[in-house]
Amino acid sequence: MELPNGIRVKNRFFKSAMSETLANAHNQPVEKHIRLYQEWAEGGAGVVVTGNVMVDRNALGEPGNVVIEDEKDMDMLKRWAEKGTKHGTCLWMQINHPGKQSPKTMSKEPVAPSAIPMGDALRSAFNPPRKLTNDEIKNLIEKYVNTAAVAKKAGFAGVQIHGAHGYLVNQFLSPHDNRRDDEYGGRLENRMRFLTEIYKGMRGNLGESFPISLKLNSSDFNRDGFTEAESITVVEKMAEMGLDLIEISGGNYEQPKMSTGTDSEVFFLDYAQKLKEKVDIPVVVTGGFRSHESMESALEKGHTDMIGIARPMALDPHLPNRIMSGDYESITTRRLTTGIKGLDEKIGPAVGNVYYAMQLKRIAEGKETQQHTNAWRPLLHLIATHGPQALKPKRRK
Ligand SMILES: Cc1cc2nc3c(=O)[nH]c(=O)nc-3n(C[C@H](O)[C@H](O)[C@H](O)COP(=O)(O)O)c2cc1C
Repeated sequence: MELPNGIRVKNRFFKSAMSETLANAHNQPVEKHIRLYQEWAEGGAGVVVTGNVMVDRNALGEPGNVVIEDEKDMDMLKRWAEKGTKHGTCLWMQINHPGKQSPKTMSKEPVAPSAIPMGDALRSAFNPPRKLTNDEIKNLIEKYVNTAAVAKKAGFAGVQIHGAHGYLVNQFLSPHDNRRDDEYGGRLENRMRFLTEIYKGMRGNLGESFPISLKLNSSDFNRDGFTEAESITVVEKMAEMGLDLIEISGGNYEQPKMSTGTDSEVFFLDYAQKLKEKVDIPVVVTGGFRSHESMESALEKGHTDMIGIARPMALDPHLPNRIMSGDYESITTRRLTTGIKGLDEKIGPAVGNVYYAMQLKRIAEGKETQQHTNAWRPLLHLIATHGPQALKPKRRK
């Protein structure tokens, strides 16, 4: 298929971002990144998006994030891009800042559009954020643009702005998180300004033909968050401005719909259908695609232009090739369990993410992945990293 700017993508498999958490103590990319992306490039996906790369080393989402603030890791980034773009793979770098979703173990005082703390259930794991000044916002916009410029110089074939899952761009979009009364808050046009200025800065720097995509929530699924109607308006505006592709997801740390989904096997399809009536740019739905049949059906019905897949690609990095060679029906991604019901109820999606990140590390080390549902190792790993607050505390009344 072809993107509107004429860039060819060899097939409709879109490997969605998964944070690798493989960077060294200085948040630099390492050999394991190169090995992992070499595997995915060999696995056949048309587009491979990296795990979120952070724009500011003072604002990390988790240990092991890659941070790009300058060109000091250029040699390693070039090797990552070179191996990850083999076999005609479009390797895109996802660019992110966590805003208030930076855990206590990472940030004493995270920043956000407004000083709105996390909801009760997550307050023990996240410090309350400080409101960004207008100058700091402008500086952060430059950081997003700068990281994208380094990605292009290193040889990545495109970038993705992370505008979903409750991170900083999403916080600006959300009327719950953004209560500002300057040009970055209030009506949607203002709440969008952080995103549109990042996009304009990137476009000006990267040129017309360099793919810039956006991952966006169909909705925050919060009572007073970013809604489906607002999300559609944002996509319309971004498409008008020349965005190359939109990836649809949903939720945030408090409403983790990106991993649990909505009612159907494949998440967010109803929204994607509505969106496709409004915009012409390629739409990618991500979340819940497991069977060959559900993928074919979504493409045939025109509900999505590409198949966004994350967790199954951590279990089998060669999944696209296996599907194309007819050697695949379905993969199951079952909920992990400790075997203790009371404890399982306290386990949030973070434990599942650690399990999948462990599989990414195995791929990077040239080992077979392990498919099981035992939650203990990822749980202990999470507690060792973030302390007991990594468990979801009981919701206060
Ligand atoms: C280990 C792990 C790390 C993830 N990291 C990111 C990330 O860095 N950026 C992002 O946009 N989504 C991230 N996600 C979410 C996935 O991209 C995807 O939206 C979600 O897993 C649903 O798709 P799936 O059902 O195919 O897994 C992550 C998911 C997992 C399991």
